[in-house]
Amino acid sequence: MTDAAIPVLTIVGPSGSGMGTISRAVAARLGWHYLDSGALYRAVGVAAGWADLDLGDAGALVRCAFDTTIAFRDDPGGEPRVLVNGHDATDELRTETAGAAASAIAAIPEVRAALKERQRAFRQPPGLVADGRDMGTVIFPDAATKVILTASAEERAERRYKQLRDKGVSVTLDGLLREILARDARDANREVAPLRPAADAVRIDTTGQDTAAVVERVLALVPGRAA
Ligand code: DC
Repeated sequence: MTDAAIPVLTIVGPSGSGMGTISRAVAARLGWHYLDSGALYRAVGVAAGWADLDLGDAGALVRCAFDTTIAFRDDPGGEPRVLVNGHDATDELRTETAGAAASAIAAIPEVRAALKERQRAFRQPPGLVADGRDMGTVIFPDAATKVILTASAEERAERRYKQLRDKGVSVTLDGLLREILARDARDANREVAPLRPAADAVRIDTTGQDTAAVVERVLALVPGRAA
């Protein structure tokens, strides 16, 4: 099967829009593969931290992006496990520190280029759900279905607050809201791969909607699956 014949659904949304949860659920329903592209950037960020690299040293970070091995393992009990250089880094990947490192290194064009082919390699039969900023624009511009999820910043902060509280992490709602607004601005305004949806993406506002309802709305957009 040529790549062009393997269907791709791209999903993009700012942090806290439920992008990961919804993408995984949609992939499971379709029986398709799933690419969490943010996890690749986070993995490089974590590997850079382990190697004590300076986040200002673009050359070292690019080498790190090439050298880091990243593997996903299904975990029937929950989220897929992510192995970075052979170590299970799933929990470390979700920390704010890893997110901040990922955001910084994602602004380096050579790092993005280094991860490009790796991301395209996830396009395997019978299909792929890929989430992340540039999935529908740079990595899979020919994807048949492109979705952008939105939610108010307040609701995204609240969702994140509940997630972290459930994990026993102590944070304030105000602090999270400020962080989310700052990260949105940085991701939307940077010169390299800003968070801009593909022109042919369908926008779904998830504010006030539960995951199940959003999953159905996304599935209805996949050719051959319209309700
Ligand atoms: O979606 P996330 O929070 O796991 O992403 C982590 C960081 O990586 C975030 O700052 C945006 C960046 N990223 C990116 O630039 N391009 C992608 N395709 C995915 C993530």
